[in-house]
Amino acid sequence: MKHTFKIFRYDPAKERQPRYQEYQVEAEPTDKILDCLNRIRWEQDSSLTYRMSCAHGVCGSDAMRINGICALACQRLIKDYGEGPLLIEPLPQFPVLKDLLVDLTAFFEKYRGIWPYLLPDDPAPEKERLQSPEERMAFDEAIRCILCGCCTAACPILEDNQQFLGPAALLRAFRYLFDSRDRQKGKRMELLDDENAIWGCKTHGKCTEVCPKEIQVTQSLGRVKKKIYDSKKAP
Ligand code: FES
Repeated sequence: MKHTFKIFRYDPAKERQPRYQEYQVEAEPTDKILDCLNRIRWEQDSSLTYRMSCAHGVCGSDAMRINGICALACQRLIKDYGEGPLLIEPLPQFPVLKDLLVDLTAFFEKYRGIWPYLLPDDPAPEKERLQSPEERMAFDEAIRCILCGCCTAACPILEDNQQFLGPAALLRAFRYLFDSRDRQKGKRMELLDDENAIWGCKTHGKCTEVCPKEIQVTQSLGRVKKKIYDSKKAP
């Protein structure tokens, strides 16, 4: 069956305004949206630009907005969207480099800003820093994050405040704050105790709704807020 794809096209180097271009694609209900984009690019229009790599929901590179909802094109199937035309757009909140390809520079700058690595207070052991299964479970879910950017793109806070760190960076901060091997909790909480950091989150929950890994992002950010709040109450 033929499906209509209405795709956002824009080359800021050559065009003044974005436009939408329609393509007809023969597809089965079980075909991935990414398969269809590949078909368009390989068989109809090689100028269509987007990112992809693994095609299996692992690398996070093909995040885009499909019928208004941020998702991974390789995880979504034609049958998820019914028979109407499919509207394909780049992730909102991110500057467009070309078509569906967005600039992730600011996203990864914010990510690096939360110190996404262990901060120990002792010399490295000969083998590894050990952790019990229970300690590992304290942040287990957050490990699934693939930094696709869907949560950050869907966050309404960023529409008004681009300084806000956004859910992806804050979820990674959660992961280290609750890791028993990290020994700089005070320093981390000081960094996060800011209106552009954890207090910028107003629990809209859009991040959790769109997360392709089904991570309870909002809930995890709530645990960061509670930890900071409790640390201030402690004598
Ligand atoms: S292409 Fe890797 S997550 Fe979709």
